[in-house]
Amino acid sequence: MFAGIAGRYDLLNHVLSLNIDRRWRRLVANELRDILDRGDATVLDVACGTGDLSLELNKNAKAQIIGTDFCRPMLAVAAEKNSLGADIPYVEADAMTLPFADGSFDGVTIAFGLRNLPNFENGLKELNRVLKRNGKLVVLECSHPPFPVFRQLYSFYFSRVLPRIGGLVSGSRIAYEYLPDSVTKFPEQEKLVELMDATGFCNVKYRNLTGGIAALHSGVKADNRA
Ligand SMILES: C[S@@+](CC[C@H](N)C(=O)[O-])C[C@H]1O[C@@H](n2cnc3c(N)ncnc32)[C@H](O)[C@@H]1O
Repeated sequence: MFAGIAGRYDLLNHVLSLNIDRRWRRLVANELRDILDRGDATVLDVACGTGDLSLELNKNAKAQIIGTDFCRPMLAVAAEKNSLGADIPYVEADAMTLPFADGSFDGVTIAFGLRNLPNFENGLKELNRVLKRNGKLVVLECSHPPFPVFRQLYSFYFSRVLPRIGGLVSGSRIAYEYLPDSVTKFPEQEKLVELMDATGFCNVKYRNLTGGIAALHSGVKADNRA
């Protein structure tokens, strides 16, 4: 499904979110600023897709950024963007079984990726596994607006308008029907906090973005993990 939309993915992201996605990615980078400023740090961007978050993390960073995704056409678009001056290695891999040793990274990000994994709990455990002790995970994901009226309006846009535009521009209506479907099945903000708590993270917190249509969760790998 992602292979089929790789060529139009960036354009649709910016159009369907009215460009707000750029701001959201900047906020992820801000969450990791201390780590990004360290020359000895390494940050893994999981389900990196076409690399927009990897590039945002890489801006002015001293840390090494690595992107990973299991979809080769998405990674090909990401790799092309390195011609604009970045040198980010992209690794083809399934987020459920990452090809990295335990405790490899100071920071891990996953943007609009966790929702797509076949099992959220096992996915979070895998992200935890590759983090160093006290390393930080930042999750950016579509979420559930808490205010009922806004939630209903947004739900109409998300489930009725967005699949039509997405389908027309990308040529894959299925991919853009899958999107609202997958968000509906994704845990509410507080539930995701509980899930992160249960999968080895501490200091878990979140903030709603743009009225809760997205949320930014972060957590630190608890000390009692390898
Ligand atoms: C909605 S895109 C998000 C891409 C990017 N992170 C962004 O912010 O635009 C979801 C990405 O997750 C990837 N993905 C889904 N399931 C995956 C898995 N099990 N392992 C690795 N990547 C996966 C897809 O290939 C796709 O590139």
